[in-house]
Amino acid sequence: APAAGASGPLAGRRVLVTAGPTHEPIDPVRYLANRSSGKQGFALAGALARVGAEVVLVAGPCALATPAGVTRVDVETAREMLSACRDALPVDAAICVAAVADWRVAETGAQKLKKDATGGAPPALALTENPDILATLAQLETGRPALVVGFAAETDRVLDHARAKRARKRCDWIVANDVSAATGIMGGDDTAVTVITDAGEDALPAGSKVAVAEALAARIAAALTPTPE
Ligand code: CTP
Ligand code: CA
Repeated sequence: APAAGASGPLAGRRVLVTAGPTHEPIDPVRYLANRSSGKQGFALAGALARVGAEVVLVAGPCALATPAGVTRVDVETAREMLSACRDALPVDAAICVAAVADWRVAETGAQKLKKDATGGAPPALALTENPDILATLAQLETGRPALVVGFAAETDRVLDHARAKRARKRCDWIVANDVSAATGIMGGDDTAVTVITDAGEDALPAGSKVAVAEALAARIAAALTPTPE
């Protein structure tokens, strides 16, 4: 729920944010996951709450404190994340920052896999594709959020890959960032992003993930708020 008497440009607006990785079980003790600290998504959820939004943060496993004024729903897997996002609807905007695991193990056992069970050879894991939460929300036939935003963390041809993702998933904006090792963005506190929209591409000033979140929250507020004539 929003802080009582929430004020700011997004007062009365509901925003969904996904953040963190997802964990896809292999067996009761092992999982597949993406590398994600959750810092950017949590920073964005906090920044949106500070401009008055009622924020639902659907978070994969990450060790971060819930930002003030944010309603947090913890999930483990991509399928749980999608289901929690559907439960959060309707929203005015959905911002998908999570690093969702693209695949899950097709058949997980109730028992721990044993190293010696396969005669010493490593087990072959059959994978199946996870649902695409961003594409699902962007392509909802009824109840599509007015603004759907994705993130694209890329290591090469950053803007090309990001533009292609925006078109493929049919989200309104893609926030592109270069996460190649030399940038230190993965897991770090600083970032640099380019916002790609129908209207063009804007490189935001580089800075802390919190500062970049505040700049993004201001843009989201501007997009959702009718401009006075
Ligand atoms: N995303 C999602 N659900 C998925 C995969 C991705 O919601 N199953 C969202 C991410 O939260 C992000 C955007 O889609 O906002 C781009 O994620 P990314 O992993 O870069 O895109 P993919 O389409 O999975 O492409 P690839 O991993 O092959 O680069
Ligand atoms: Ca992916």
